[in-house]
Amino acid sequence: MPAKASLPPEPEFGAPLAPSHPSPETLKLLALRRSTPVSALSDPGPAADDIDTMLRLAMRVPDHRKLEPWRVVIIEGEARALFGDVLAAARRLRDPDATQEQLAAERTLPFRAPLILCVVSSPVHDKKGTPVWEQQLSAGALCQNLLIASQAMGWAGVWISEDAAYDGHVHAALGLSGHEQVAGFIYLGTAKEQPVERQRPDISAKATRWTG
Ligand SMILES: Cc1cc2nc3c(=O)[nH]c(=O)nc-3n(C[C@H](O)[C@H](O)[C@H](O)COP(=O)(O)O)c2cc1C
Repeated sequence: MPAKASLPPEPEFGAPLAPSHPSPETLKLLALRRSTPVSALSDPGPAADDIDTMLRLAMRVPDHRKLEPWRVVIIEGEARALFGDVLAAARRLRDPDATQEQLAAERTLPFRAPLILCVVSSPVHDKKGTPVWEQQLSAGALCQNLLIASQAMGWAGVWISEDAAYDGHVHAALGLSGHEQVAGFIYLGTAKEQPVERQRPDISAKATRWTG
């Protein structure tokens, strides 16, 4: 069972914050962090106070002009059955030939984990014209912060999109407006089997030193 997070109180607006300092635990977490495939997730999942903590941590995210261009829709418990109905209806609309078995499979998707956090990219058109791209990047950073915070609290999770993230019927059912998009569904719970390391990039091929 994941340990309860013991966190410093939320700083007051304008309070001085400590300068950065080495944090071996953070480095270890980042060095070994891995998503857990959704097929390997199970109960139990984070309770309400853990979800609040995760959201508080994840929303400490870089955000140009403090537009807060994102929000999170929490899907858990019985609401997963309703979300499964939405996924099945969306599938039928996308694919009128879908069989009853395929529709039934859609209904089970939300039950792969006890908690789904749907991160919504919700860009703002401000007077200064902050690029939408930057606002979408902030939503992506929120997704990654959720993965890191949840793993630091002892939970397992994965960021997935699947067809649902791009489906207008799903968007409408989750209350998204026309300008909003799903940045990701973060499925969270407990790992019933541990993930194994996946292939990682060759850093020397991915990072080059610019010399003018
Ligand atoms: C935006 C986004 C969408 C993704 N959608 C899916 C998906 O629909 N299905 C899937 O199996 N993996 C999906 N993935 C990949 C999983 O998150 C993958 O397991 C993860 O990248 C593993 O890397 P990690 O262990 O370093 O976290 C997606 C990743 C991102 C960033």
